[in-house]
Amino acid sequence: MPLPKLLITRRVYDSVLDSLSGVFDIQHNQEKDEPLTKPDLMQKLADKDYLLSTVVDRIDEEVLAAAPGLKCIASGAVGTNNIDLKACTDRGIAVTNTPDVLTETTADFAWALLMATARRLTEAEQYLRQGQWKGWSFDQLTGVDVYGSTLGILGMGRIGSAISRRAQGFGMTVLYHNRRPAADEASARYVEKDVLFKESDFVVLVVPYSPQTHHIVAAKELALMKKSACLVNIARGGVVDDKALVQALQSGTIRAAGLDVFEGEPALDPGFLPLSNVVLTPHIASSTRATRGAMMQLAADNLLAHAQGRALLTQVA
Ligand code: DGY
Repeated sequence: MPLPKLLITRRVYDSVLDSLSGVFDIQHNQEKDEPLTKPDLMQKLADKDYLLSTVVDRIDEEVLAAAPGLKCIASGAVGTNNIDLKACTDRGIAVTNTPDVLTETTADFAWALLMATARRLTEAEQYLRQGQWKGWSFDQLTGVDVYGSTLGILGMGRIGSAISRRAQGFGMTVLYHNRRPAADEASARYVEKDVLFKESDFVVLVVPYSPQTHHIVAAKELALMKKSACLVNIARGGVVDDKALVQALQSGTIRAAGLDVFEGEPALDPGFLPLSNVVLTPHIASSTRATRGAMMQLAADNLLAHAQGRALLTQVA
């Protein structure tokens, strides 16, 4: 019997590839590891039964139509906004994602951005590297205190909750907003969205991207924030109106931002680049070797489960 055909769109660790070989006839991208263009993805998927994709592969109706034999998509990400889940269900294609394995690592990174914005970490490092440091002074590169301040979390899911738990060590008051209050959230207080923006010293965005959360943070929300407040986005580009954010950072509407995701990434609004009050990172919140490995392996394990007739581990459609 010929092996089912699998496309892996980006480079994965050798151990992950090894776990799949012998079960699948694999077309991979180990050497180049470049994102596939849409026509390339469609052409490569034409004869495939399985797909191991990433957050940057856009899987829409047109792509699915080009893959008549596709049975299961294992996405190596927790967010699924790049996949048309309804179209997959309509076509009988199962979809899995990678929850849980990245929760703690991603929460750590939200904190890295929060601390970096509060204490002007990248700005201070550049100051030093560029030879501007001529000696100590009382008001040099002063930041704002994290300890004892108020943290607002927009999107209290698994990652939001892990961020909130860390805030206890910093003696923070934690507010959160969700579509509805979380039943078992003891470490944080549910508030209306506007209250969250008004009262928080740090606002961290962890909501999934959807038409409902598109530009959920725009000029109106930024204007509600304290002038001394910092915004951290580890959710998705598109959750924030980046143009409005550039303006808010330029005009001092808010103090600073820490951004791991951008509208239209890998391109980003050029207005961010000259600003010293924004910390910019290239979508790496889940990027530790262990966590990225766990994400790839969970995606692979879902494919193995499907091919071997076992229940999927983390099915979303
Ligand atoms: C996710 O898992 O959704 C992350 O954004 C991938 O890096």
